[in-house]
Amino acid sequence: MTVSITFHGHSTFTINSDGHRLLIDPFFDENPLAKISAEDVEADFILISHGHFDHVADAVSIAKRTGALVISNFEIASWFGKQGVENTHPLHIGGSNQFPFGRCKLTIAHHGSVLPDGSYGGNPAGFLFKFNNGKTVYFSGDTALTYDMKWLADDHVDVALLCVGDNFTMGPADAVKAVKLIEPKQVIPYHFDTWPYIECDIDVFTQGCAQETSAQVVMLGVENTHTVP
Ligand code: NI
Ligand code: MN
Repeated sequence: MTVSITFHGHSTFTINSDGHRLLIDPFFDENPLAKISAEDVEADFILISHGHFDHVADAVSIAKRTGALVISNFEIASWFGKQGVENTHPLHIGGSNQFPFGRCKLTIAHHGSVLPDGSYGGNPAGFLFKFNNGKTVYFSGDTALTYDMKWLADDHVDVALLCVGDNFTMGPADAVKAVKLIEPKQVIPYHFDTWPYIECDIDVFTQGCAQETSAQVVMLGVENTHTVP
């Protein structure tokens, strides 16, 4: 009855819930932080938050090799179909569905979502996972701070994965405000220090959370795994 979260660098995570392997935003072979290559990754489900290259880069190849179910918004799920990926499930913002691992809801993200070939990628999203074993995990996707995050407090999030790198998404100070709204037990920052544009002072986030929130910050190194308590 465990949920474990492995960080692969940038925005790429594997969440393993009782043997169900969920791969989020697979970006390996051109990811400056990655330590493993796309061909070594296994997955049962692939979740795509939005269409940008740094979130979908290796998704088609991994989906075809593993046969994993690709879960994303309608436009991106349709795009995967056109790339020859048959096994897809479309959701859209605010909608949720019961999967073998538990329930997954597409949450609001304020960002862009064009796909690498210029195709329209619909609205960007985050994910709220309510796993069958009772653990709740929120993945923000690429997003600005938004007051809509306040609703997530009702979901009693065990671990929130939050973008913090600034420039393209909320920065470390806004991410502290996000933690105040979401009230997770633990928080893992990501989407920072991959490139110069998103280098940030992570101490602003860690110290802000320590001083202004009751959430525990978990700094997850690349290929390190955190087991949700
Ligand atoms: Ni993006
Ligand atoms: Mn991004």
